[in-house]
Amino acid sequence: MKVAIAADHGGFDLKEALKKKLSTVEWVDLGTHNGDSVDYPDFGAALARRVAAGEFQRGVLICGSGIGISIAANKIKGIRAALCHNAYTAEMARKHNDANIIAMGGRVVDENTAATMTEIFLSTDFEGGRHARRVEKIQALE
Ligand code: RB5
Repeated sequence: MKVAIAADHGGFDLKEALKKKLSTVEWVDLGTHNGDSVDYPDFGAALARRVAAGEFQRGVLICGSGIGISIAANKIKGIRAALCHNAYTAEMARKHNDANIIAMGGRVVDENTAATMTEIFLSTDFEGGRHARRVEKIQALE
């Protein structure tokens, strides 16, 4: 699975740590590439557009809190970016919401939690059934 990852300066350190921890994932790093201050909507939208276009099956977005970059990504049609904080929310993001992007806060979660959440997010299938009807209702809002 080809996975895109991007962050702003608030998520840069966690992005680098995550790539090292999950070295078997086929990462495509869309930046930012250093700790200089940047604007999270630029990185959230750029990654989300490429996920929505089908270039990547999943994406990982990180800013300081995870909030801004997830809000930006969710403006792109076809994107369901889930702001996750632990293993449970990462699992539900896939099983119930069919999220295609996981967002997290570089100032919120530690490296181990981030790696666990990402592993779960990349390996868990959507349950469908009653959840499919609800996701279709989200799509109808777009
Ligand atoms: C940048 O300081 C910070 O505002 C950003 O990383 C993010 O937390 C916004 O939601």
